[in-house]
Amino acid sequence: MALVVTPTPENLLQAAQRIRAGRLVAFATETVYGLGADALNPAAVASVFELKGRPLFDPLIVHVSSTNQAQKLCSQWPVTADKLAARFWPGPLTMVLPRADLVPDLVTAGLPNVALRWPAHPVAQQLIRLADCPIAAPSANRFASISPTSAADVASELTDPDLWILDGGPCQHGLESTVISLVSERPIVLRFGSLAVEDLEAELGPLTIAVRSVNQAELQSGLASPGHLSRHYSPRTPLLLIEPDEFPPTIATHQRVGLLCFGDQASTPLTPHFAVVENLSVDADLREAATRLYAALRKLDQANLDLIVALALPAVGLGRAINDRLQRASH
Ligand code: TXA
Ligand code: MG
Repeated sequence: MALVVTPTPENLLQAAQRIRAGRLVAFATETVYGLGADALNPAAVASVFELKGRPLFDPLIVHVSSTNQAQKLCSQWPVTADKLAARFWPGPLTMVLPRADLVPDLVTAGLPNVALRWPAHPVAQQLIRLADCPIAAPSANRFASISPTSAADVASELTDPDLWILDGGPCQHGLESTVISLVSERPIVLRFGSLAVEDLEAELGPLTIAVRSVNQAELQSGLASPGHLSRHYSPRTPLLLIEPDEFPPTIATHQRVGLLCFGDQASTPLTPHFAVVENLSVDADLREAATRLYAALRKLDQANLDLIVALALPAVGLGRAINDRLQRASH
């Protein structure tokens, strides 16, 4: 079992020393828990891939505790980066920029660009400051599994007895950061996340979206951007994602089926036929739904079901990010 640790000043200091010594520390951020290592230490970064079971072609986000620290990790810092950092950092936005030479190849999976984020959670900020180095951290789950939104979730995913998990309570957003590439003239959204694309567009104007699913072969061939695997964020139980107007789906009567829904979707006369019903937000609040998504998927996954039926959410704001995760969970 990994060790869940309260972020007292002494524990934070010890955790920072662990990072400095090339060991791994899982920690709370406002999006999901991260599995952190000194981003400038290739051996430490290699153990992140190893512990997660993550393929080496999928690069990691580097976490910083100031814009200045981020600037040192890239070779170009366009005006757009300044604008977005001033508006959204610290917070759930990751910017992909041309990398500086000091960033190890392993972190970027050999790409010429690095993904950077200044998280808002005080535990994450203190850990990075005390370690005095940028921290590379993917979500602290086994590869392709459901991202952890509490210290207990991390402990159930990663069982290394030497691992420390800094407990910062349940994550405020519960969904990963939004990833935007600023590498070419035109910014491109690479991943939907906790920052609504509409909020980015309010700053930058209409954005190009490139979040389509790709398969492993396409990734290995280098023809597609990483981090877009079609199967990801997945429970072990098969998940069927349908539009509300396709409800109810045809289901064999002997099957034990769970329902994942939103708002008044739960108030259909068929609801009692489901073994378990998880409503992401009774009040149809997309932010609340985002916060609860992964916990709800974990709960359904532990309910011994044959199938999870998920109803798509309205495709606006965070609803797009939630539908994106459900779509990847359904493959
Ligand atoms: O909210 C988050 O972003 C969390 C917390 C811990 O900060 N982290 C997270 O990391 O979700 P991870 O590794 O699970 O997802 C990182 C995403 C992947 O889709 C990866 O492919 C993409 O960012 N990424 C990382 N570096 C990249 C790069 N150089 N170019 C393009 N995409 C990159
Ligand atoms: Mg992840």
